[in-house]
Amino acid sequence: MNQVPRHIAIVMDGNGRWAKKRYLPRIAGHKQGVDALSRCVKSCLERGIGVLTVFAFSSENWNRPSDEVSGLMDLLVVALTRQLPSLNANGVQLHFIGDRQRFSDKVNSALVQSELSTAGNTRLIFNICFNYGGRWDIAQAAQKLASRGEAITELSLDRAMALAHVPDPDLLIRTGGELRLSNFLLWQAAYSELYFSDKLWPEFDEAALDNAIAAFRARERRFGQTPEQVSGLHRN
Ligand code: IPE
Ligand code: IPE
Ligand code: MG
Repeated sequence: MNQVPRHIAIVMDGNGRWAKKRYLPRIAGHKQGVDALSRCVKSCLERGIGVLTVFAFSSENWNRPSDEVSGLMDLLVVALTRQLPSLNANGVQLHFIGDRQRFSDKVNSALVQSELSTAGNTRLIFNICFNYGGRWDIAQAAQKLASRGEAITELSLDRAMALAHVPDPDLLIRTGGELRLSNFLLWQAAYSELYFSDKLWPEFDEAALDNAIAAFRARERRFGQTPEQVSGLHRN
């Protein structure tokens, strides 16, 4: 039996379908998604999870209709402003992961302010991937090393990645029923246990999270070894 995961990563998918089922605009699904996320943060705190990383907006999501994109940007700023006091009260340290060059000044300053204001918290590290792509991360890490004239090795790349401040995710959950990564954590998920749920993200509640954690705990993580080595029956 594994311990509870130290680091959980989530592709929060299915907001649009949740809204469509109810004849609501897609942005209503994203608003419900924010509520589901704040419940999920609370559940992670209660379960002693050290790191939560969520996929909120991908590099490819710019290809959506412009009203949905601007709605998501506005929602980010509103949700941050609203949630900041409770994140601080609960010891949550916030990080935004992704390329910030395309954001407006308003979005950028909200991100910086919230990171600064939560920087001293230590109970839960909460990474929000926004305008993030796994390929972007690998490329930006390689560029960083190249500009410093440093050798490119697995270790140096790892240290230059946007998630260098946390261990790799133990458990990677995707809601919404799709069986793909959609450019999330391509480097860091090398040995994550994958868990796919048919629940749409706004419906992913505490019980659903517990099911995912229970499935993770029952998995055997071998990291290339044989089952006998893992169980300690085979030495040398
Ligand atoms: C995930 O939900 C949230 C974002 C990508 C911003 P979707 O908006 O992709 O929901 P579906 O997949 O259309 O249901
Ligand atoms: C992945 O979901 C991105 C986020 C959850 C933010 P998408 O809905 O964008 O993924 P695809 O397009 O179905 O692969
Ligand atoms: Mg989707």
